[in-house]
Amino acid sequence: MAGLGNVPIIILKEGAKRETGKDAQKRNIQAAKAVAEVIRSTLGPKGMDKMLINSSGDATITNDGAIILREMDIEHPVAKMIVEVAKTQDDEIGDGTTTAVIIASELLKRAETLIDQGVHPTIIVSGYKQAQNKAIELLDGYAVDVSGTKEILLKIAQTAMTGKGIEVFGAKLPHIAVDAAMAVAENKRIDLEESIKIVKIPGGTIDDSQINFGIVIEKDRLHPEMPKKVKKAKIMLLEGTLEIKKLSADAKITITEAKDLASFKEGEEEILKEQVDAIAKAGANVIFCQKGIGLTAQHYLAQYGIMAARRVKDEDMKMLAKATGARIVGDALQARPEDLGDAAIVEERKVAKDKNMIFIEGCKDAKAVSIVLHGVSEQFLDEMERAFDDALNVVLDVILSGKIVPGGGAPETFVSENLRQYASTLSGREQLAVKAFADAIEAIPYVLAENAGFDAVDAVVALRSKHGEGFENYGVNIDTGEPGDMLALGVVEPLRVKIQAIKSATEASTMILRVDDVIAAKREEFKPKPGQSPHDYTRPPMPPMM
Ligand SMILES: Nc1ncnc2c1ncn2[C@@H]1O[C@H](COP(=O)(O)OP(=O)(O)OP(=O)(O)O)[C@@H](O)[C@H]1O
Ligand SMILES: [Mg+2]
Repeated sequence: MAGLGNVPIIILKEGAKRETGKDAQKRNIQAAKAVAEVIRSTLGPKGMDKMLINSSGDATITNDGAIILREMDIEHPVAKMIVEVAKTQDDEIGDGTTTAVIIASELLKRAETLIDQGVHPTIIVSGYKQAQNKAIELLDGYAVDVSGTKEILLKIAQTAMTGKGIEVFGAKLPHIAVDAAMAVAENKRIDLEESIKIVKIPGGTIDDSQINFGIVIEKDRLHPEMPKKVKKAKIMLLEGTLEIKKLSADAKITITEAKDLASFKEGEEEILKEQVDAIAKAGANVIFCQKGIGLTAQHYLAQYGIMAARRVKDEDMKMLAKATGARIVGDALQARPEDLGDAAIVEERKVAKDKNMIFIEGCKDAKAVSIVLHGVSEQFLDEMERAFDDALNVVLDVILSGKIVPGGGAPETFVSENLRQYASTLSGREQLAVKAFADAIEAIPYVLAENAGFDAVDAVVALRSKHGEGFENYGVNIDTGEPGDMLALGVVEPLRVKIQAIKSATEASTMILRVDDVIAAKREEFKPKPGQSPHDYTRPPMPPMM
């Protein structure tokens, strides 16, 4: 290689930045810790809320880890990976997002110490993986099988909702969550979005909220002469239209005599009349149409005393089918009595000034339900919906899996105690990583106690000794800071929340640990256009990564 001498070879474009080895790792770990720091104080029933204000000045008040991180508009690539942890947790199970993020950052924090002590990141990664598998195995053995009785499900819903600022107002919501999940649960995992419709109505109190075994749709009935209320409803769901099809632009009809025009129109009316006759003949007294219903058809329908709504959303049509047992028909002329669905009552009701909704109620064996949430303000309703959604997800999970664990940091204490013992059976440096993993998991009872205003070290030490005596269901009693029997206190959670939190935290932290080289291309600078102020650029430039 003569001739090259000591001249450095530049392989990066001008302006690109590079950081390698320990420096890169440290910087990444710092970013992850910074994210977790933001939501740490929201964990648990005594956790605080965050107020987020977006660029247009709208405020959201929430305790939900996934939402906080999503709204924060984070730019740092590693911090973003931590946000992904919350997102995965939220998508997979719908609760436990704060827990997952705290564990991820604790894993990284402890890895940092190990790296400083000279332990190679690949050893830490392999130790963490080993510890994760052991933790899952331990949790599996620790979980309690339940038959999903209503009483247990209620406790699951209550635990998921505590600390969300709404439990103070009403004990009714957990009941509604349980009833809803029980109604829609089938053998396999179901998509909640397709079977539970949440309708938010500002005004009234939380206790006015209710479950509706049927669907509520944000529509008025089409015509004032149609009935407002139909009992023993026979419901038709029509995909096609009940209006004259508009002629396409290039269609041409030549009518030379006035009487021909009249008969052309009559012909069209005749078709509509036939369709409405078919609907009535099939026995329908309510019709929901996905497309339009023209004036003529409205008139005929009203004459038959049939209640109708048009342009019903696709999702609503599907839910109506699930709730009422109706089959969606394409063409009114094909309608048969067996395609109709049933509901005890279909009624248009006023829910607010100038706002009506149609309530389809009393569907036997409804596989889709609506929840009507009432609350003082839109903001409050949004937070209520998020908490409610957490509860729904966990209840459904327990109905399907039948496995629960006590909450309040009990499972984390159990796992960390057992992992420490397991670590001592290992030879080699992985042992250190498994120990670090055990400590990281213990952050959960620690933060729970801290957020409730107790001395966290005392609380964790007391818990350890309680577990040492064999009281494995003990977690942090949030009112006293002392260890308490979580099963007896009714603080229970699905096993899957805990397993998923550990999995997503391990996955993200090990992925971050494997990075030892960060190469960032030069970022394009913001150049204001003529007439634009440099302050129009609302996003602050990325904080220096190196
Ligand atoms: N009454 C209670 N006593 C003790 N601990 C409780 C009680 N209720 C809930 N917890 C604990 O609080 C923790 C959950 O807190 P929180 O709901 O704020 O966070 P998360 O579920 O991790 O995240 P998020 O709900 O934002 O997705 C769990 O460890 C749970 O066991
Ligand atoms: Mg929660």
